[in-house]
Amino acid sequence: MYCGDVLALSYDEQGIVVNELPWDTVHNGEIYFIKNNNTTYLTHGIHKYAGKYIPQIPSWAIKNAQYRMKKEHLNILDPFCGSGTTLLEAATHGCSSVGIDIDPLACLVSRVKTRTISDDVLLNLNVDFWNIFEMTTSNYMPNIDNFNHWFNENNIEHLSRLYETIRTYQSSTDLFELLLVTLSSIIRKSSNADNRSLKTYVSHTHIKKVPDALEAFRSHLKRNIARLIELNQVIKYSETYVHNPASSSESGYLPVKESFDCVITSPPYIKSMDYLYNQMLEVLWLGPYLGINGKDALNQYKKLYIGSQVRDKKYIPLIGIDEIDSFIGNIFKLNPKHAAICAQYFSDISDHLSATYDLLIPNGEYYMVVGNSNVSGIEVPVNRFVQLIAIRQGFTVNFDIGYIIRKHYMIFPRVKSGGLITTDWIINFRK
Ligand SMILES: C[S@@+](CC[C@H](N)C(=O)[O-])C[C@H]1O[C@@H](n2cnc3c(N)ncnc32)[C@H](O)[C@@H]1O
Repeated sequence: MYCGDVLALSYDEQGIVVNELPWDTVHNGEIYFIKNNNTTYLTHGIHKYAGKYIPQIPSWAIKNAQYRMKKEHLNILDPFCGSGTTLLEAATHGCSSVGIDIDPLACLVSRVKTRTISDDVLLNLNVDFWNIFEMTTSNYMPNIDNFNHWFNENNIEHLSRLYETIRTYQSSTDLFELLLVTLSSIIRKSSNADNRSLKTYVSHTHIKKVPDALEAFRSHLKRNIARLIELNQVIKYSETYVHNPASSSESGYLPVKESFDCVITSPPYIKSMDYLYNQMLEVLWLGPYLGINGKDALNQYKKLYIGSQVRDKKYIPLIGIDEIDSFIGNIFKLNPKHAAICAQYFSDISDHLSATYDLLIPNGEYYMVVGNSNVSGIEVPVNRFVQLIAIRQGFTVNFDIGYIIRKHYMIFPRVKSGGLITTDWIINFRK
């Protein structure tokens, strides 16, 4: 059933009902139902991102780590930062942070979400932009095949003119990127593609009423400016860096050298998400800026993501932990390609845990959020397997707790026979 643009799930309140997760005492195996469902406060609502976690999770993890480490100012790493939920929470809790993500749109959203711009400049933007827009014409066409399949004539003209106007701000990175993110946030809704599907496609059964792109942009820009003005009032600290390993000048798996007190992250789920396919229209509109020009470049770029792609379907790496290898062996009997995806996923997670271990200070904390995806009809116990890998790496496991996912703004295919999987797991490791 749909509720606005979120999917409202029916649920049994089997979890422990709380307003927010308790930050001093939680016990292994507990499952929580978090009542507070305001997930778009400050700049959290600036751009949708499939796979985004609720800000209450990093907010709780930061308070937990501050309490346990007896330290207010933490240097936090989110190595799969997506749209920057952890980074914004770090900034509002007085912590510095570094975010890493392979997805260029996610990196852009993360930067815009955490960057403060003075109130005067923001208020001027809303006037200046429209003055420039009035004088701008455009023939810009992004590199998208079958353009008229995706957009109506009116919105093609408006989006193109908006893009051309935004380009006049190139010398002012802060405003330029804010405007690009605002444009990106209205692309899907201004297209003929279904708003809630994980894959970008035009549904012939669910006929969409497409809004006018200009009006959508006008109201989003106003709203985003208000969000940033609100952020100026509450942000305590904004030392935030965002790296994309594909474009970073630093080489290596994690392109950072400093050490961190705490890692808070949610890695990709196995086989549940093709981020570029999900945001195909947004990425292709912003293609020249994001460095992904056209469908071929997009298909090449996809190979860099963990979780959804199999790099070599004949190669099934051994993880070296019997329980995981025999599980993958059973998947192999059902579907060798799925076995390769699973094995590669746990091999990538193992490399990741080894690299992050080196970046954490002694006694540093790691909060990892994972979901147990379904592969070949079998639920993969990701929460257990990452613990086994982390222990082998040298981490100790303090606890794992679950929380019930209340809203999916997009429909995740993590289906069990009974419907959507509605629990994610937070695992706390210590170095
Ligand atoms: C579950 S999402 C994180 C969402 C984030 N917590 C948020 O609130 O927006 C996982 C992220 O991992 C990123 N990712 C996938 N493969 C990666 C890689 N090889 N290196 C870095 N990031 C990667 C994806 O682009 C995606 O943004």
